[in-house]
Amino acid sequence: MNNYSHNEPDGSYHIPVLVDEVVAALRLKTASLVADVTLGDGGYSLAILESMQPGGRVVGLDLDREAVERAQQRLASFGDRFLPLQGNFREIKQILASKGLERLDGLVADLGVSRRQISDPAKGFMFTSNGPLLMKMDMDQSLSAEQVINEYDENTLADIIWKYGEERHSRRIAAALVRQREKGRIRDTETLAQVVRRTVQGPHVVKSLARVFQAFRIMTNAEIDNLRALLPQTLELLVPGGRAVFVSYHSLEDREIKLFMSAHSRPCICPPDLPVCVCHRRADVRIIGRSVTASADEQALNKSSRSARMRVMEKV
Ligand SMILES: C[S@@+](CC[C@H](N)C(=O)[O-])C[C@H]1O[C@@H](n2cnc3c(N)ncnc32)[C@H](O)[C@@H]1O
Repeated sequence: MNNYSHNEPDGSYHIPVLVDEVVAALRLKTASLVADVTLGDGGYSLAILESMQPGGRVVGLDLDREAVERAQQRLASFGDRFLPLQGNFREIKQILASKGLERLDGLVADLGVSRRQISDPAKGFMFTSNGPLLMKMDMDQSLSAEQVINEYDENTLADIIWKYGEERHSRRIAAALVRQREKGRIRDTETLAQVVRRTVQGPHVVKSLARVFQAFRIMTNAEIDNLRALLPQTLELLVPGGRAVFVSYHSLEDREIKLFMSAHSRPCICPPDLPVCVCHRRADVRIIGRSVTASADEQALNKSSRSARMRVMEKV
């Protein structure tokens, strides 16, 4: 286990996944500027700041105001080496520019939700405890899972469950949600879970529950769109030789990262039957190694590391 997850008086911090691998992959010099665009409890920022002693700065960004405040307290001893900010990484260039920052030596994104968010029933991410159907990482955001579930039409619900949850009973679950809505608005996680349990039944129901909750979370927080917006900005922000490290937890996110990296690492995109190159394109990314997953030891200690996959790119 790494050193970045020790308990504090207010409870334990999110246990950062693949943290040693992330820090090593960044290959930072002591005076680097790094953006941690999914700050969470600050586990990555802490490890990065320590690895760059005595210099080097980290900008920590998170959608979740509470997370930013907690990380600010946790990392206060680093003084002005750590700059916490609240915001969406889909606007990373603009957010950094507002602080006079235009170039980065490194960027890390540890996608999805933190343990603290997911285990808080009041945020409504979980099917194991009852809570309001919010599923918002940014509590100031107006769209909630409740609105999606109660106001979107049946086909759209089925598409969300299929696309973002890869749940094969998507059509039946969407139809059951619409029937449930006729009895009254679906307001809490328990009612959503009951509809899924009634529709799917059998030994795989827990997997279906996880997939349906994941689907509505991804939709509510526009997670895939945000990632799509982040990737090209990352490339613009990095200095040549600068590295970006992405840790993702499901195949949809990983696919976006992989496609982006492979498209940008290809020098020429001319059709293979053209005798000479006419696109004159140069690769702007070097893919560093293969994707990395957590070791058996880490997986045994931290369940959420089991689905993690890290990919690294370097700006050419
Ligand atoms: C897996 S946690 C990161 C944990 C962190 N690495 C740590 O060590 O504590 C993901 C965090 O990313 C944040 N997040 C997700 N999407 C975001 C976005 N589009 N912009 C900014 N933060 C985002 C979530 O609010 C959550 O706090």
